[in-house]
Amino acid sequence: NDDLVILGIETSCDDTAAAVVRSNGDILSQVVSSQADLLAKYGGVAPKMAEEAHSQVIDQVVQEALDKAKLTESDLSAVAVTIGPGLSLCLRVGVQKARKLAGSHSLPLVNVHHMEAHALVVRLTEREVQFPFMALLISGGHNILILARELGQYLQLGTTIDDAIGEAYDKTAKWLGLDLRRSGGLAIEELAREGDAGSIKFKVPMKQHKDCNFSYAGLKTQVRLAIESKNIDAEIPISSASTEDQSSRADVAASFQRVAVLHLEEKCERAIEWALEMEPFMKHLVVSGGVASNQYVRDRLDQVAKKKGLQLVCPPPSLCTDNGVMVAWTGIEHFRVGRFDPPPPANELEDAR
Ligand code: KG4
Ligand code: ZN
Repeated sequence: NDDLVILGIETSCDDTAAAVVRSNGDILSQVVSSQADLLAKYGGVAPKMAEEAHSQVIDQVVQEALDKAKLTESDLSAVAVTIGPGLSLCLRVGVQKARKLAGSHSLPLVNVHHMEAHALVVRLTEREVQFPFMALLISGGHNILILARELGQYLQLGTTIDDAIGEAYDKTAKWLGLDLRRSGGLAIEELAREGDAGSIKFKVPMKQHKDCNFSYAGLKTQVRLAIESKNIDAEIPISSASTEDQSSRADVAASFQRVAVLHLEEKCERAIEWALEMEPFMKHLVVSGGVASNQYVRDRLDQVAKKKGLQLVCPPPSLCTDNGVMVAWTGIEHFRVGRFDPPPPANELEDAR
């Protein structure tokens, strides 16, 4: 039972994604339809609009994934789909599509947890990553530290008490008048290279808490106040700002990024210490989720991993942000050990109406 081909569908947030992956690790296709234009226009994800955008493209995205893989539905071993966490209206679009497809072609269904998929996809690209391993998952909505002991057995060592780091990147980008069409995080990463990271002394969050939790709401406020005091006007795009104003925006970006990531470093280091008490033989620190595509983040966490005797592993950037490959791969991992549902009834959706 180890030549599997699984279609993965992901619609938990603003990207509609599908991919076909083989159990030997071959990615047969990968399609992502992004709502970046909507996002840039409204400065965030509006659930109802995101749902409509998913509905409009889901059939096409899935078809394209099958076509690019040169397969039809009946060649598949199973369908995997993200069932949460995420925006429920959006998740439903993917789940309905998956159930309909699985039902009409008698395919088993694998329900996938979005964050588990972010953590496991690295096992597709880096075959040496075995359980147990430490994972830091950083995205727009999540900021968690887990000890992955076995497939399906995850011990959460820390999470955010308010915002996730990606949210802080996105808001900072918006307040600095950056181009949000690709991603706020990427815009900050690029601008930060031009700035002086020591120019504004933001306070590192949660320093006095001897735990592994995160908080980014306070840093967001500090950044907003700094931007106000520098009279930076988000309505003026950075490309139209004066040279002096541009360089002061770069200073904010660099100073923000340094402290945002320092917070990750401190908590991650503590979590590794805790985890090593339980799993002294673990070898890897996995960092994944949209923010893990950031090179500065990778470099800094590489230092933390080395200091603690671990090796840092990250998926390639295209597999760090939301994608269908991670869902398909997680589907393969679960399917292999018998964790899947039988095909749904072929006509269940018609019946439900
Ligand atoms: O994993 P993801 O695609 O979606 C969620 O599950 O949230 O992560 C999206 C987040 C956004 O906040 C985005 O700004 C951030 O990842 N991001 C980055 C970079 N690329 C994407 N943050 C920092 N640096 C980047 N290069
Ligand atoms: Zn995600």
